[in-house]
Amino acid sequence: MKYYFAPLEGITGYTYRNVHHALFGGPDAYYAPFIQPKQTHELETREKKDIDPQNNQGISLIPQIMANKVDLFLWACEELRQRNYSVVNLNLGCPRQTIVSRHKGSGMLDNLENLKVFLDGIFEGSAKTGMRISIKTRLGTDNFDDALRMIEIFNQYPLDELIIHPRTRRDMYQGRPNHDVFQACAEKTRHRICYNGNLFSKADYESWKERFARYPQIHAVMPARGLIANPALIREMKGGKAITKQELRLYHDELYRAYDALQYGTSTLLHRMNELWFYLGCNFAGAEKLVHKIRKARNCVDYLAAVDRIFDTCDIGGHFEGR
Ligand SMILES: Cc1cc2nc3c(=O)[nH]c(=O)nc-3n(C[C@H](O)[C@H](O)[C@H](O)COP(=O)(O)O)c2cc1C
Repeated sequence: MKYYFAPLEGITGYTYRNVHHALFGGPDAYYAPFIQPKQTHELETREKKDIDPQNNQGISLIPQIMANKVDLFLWACEELRQRNYSVVNLNLGCPRQTIVSRHKGSGMLDNLENLKVFLDGIFEGSAKTGMRISIKTRLGTDNFDDALRMIEIFNQYPLDELIIHPRTRRDMYQGRPNHDVFQACAEKTRHRICYNGNLFSKADYESWKERFARYPQIHAVMPARGLIANPALIREMKGGKAITKQELRLYHDELYRAYDALQYGTSTLLHRMNELWFYLGCNFAGAEKLVHKIRKARNCVDYLAAVDRIFDTCDIGGHFEGR
């Protein structure tokens, strides 16, 4: 089984990745949050930095593109190829309204005929450059009625692999992923597949494995939110030791130091740490008030004092359970 670190836009950029990789390593690949190529044929500075090989040394990274125009997708592929990437991932999963309304991400699942035309174009274009394409997808918009039709479509292309998050767009990130539909897709696909969705703890992974270990085409799993909360989750899935409070503290401190070193100012720094605590706080079951204090801090002194308090007075034990 391979273990991938899922992309989380706004969280798992290169700064985060470097800290995680230095402290925990573990994933066979990190998937980068999406880049969105524009008509101007200019990547944003943030996007350029994120995929710059200099900023990802020693890290196995698979970039992701969110685009619905063949020429823009292929232009971004070329940018990536020039930076020595050989595989790129297409985002067909993002459920955010601003993305969907522009027919990108999971918005591309609205019209499967159009999706096919797009896939014809990008696979034809990439065949000429040798760039391999994988797909990360949800399995529907409002329901799962088209899930198997989607798999039939994907079967027509030489995907590097298919990452399936068995939720619909309407589900956003709530409720349980649909394992029955995932199983039906696993039985129909001709591709190597990777499972993504609600793998928050070793126990989640074990019970998922009990059902799906017998499918040889499932070659990878991709934890996301659970891995932000517990950066050692992949080690635990592989049978290694559980995360300790000291490791969690180091993870926090190294991220704080790395974000601070970017010199974007206090409010950006605290905003980033705040986002982290949305997940990290779940380790401290019953300490919601202290987590709230951390997330309410408006300067670094108050913030660090609140962080000391939680690490000094609380045991760890809980884990992320969805939202
Ligand atoms: C804040 C946030 C940002 C995300 N950004 C991306 C992204 O850039 N690309 C992508 O394919 N998925 C993105 N996702 C989806 C995750 O990669 C993953 O598919 C989802 O969280 C389900 O996995 P989980 O249940 O293990 O968290 C994002 C999810 C969240 C919560």
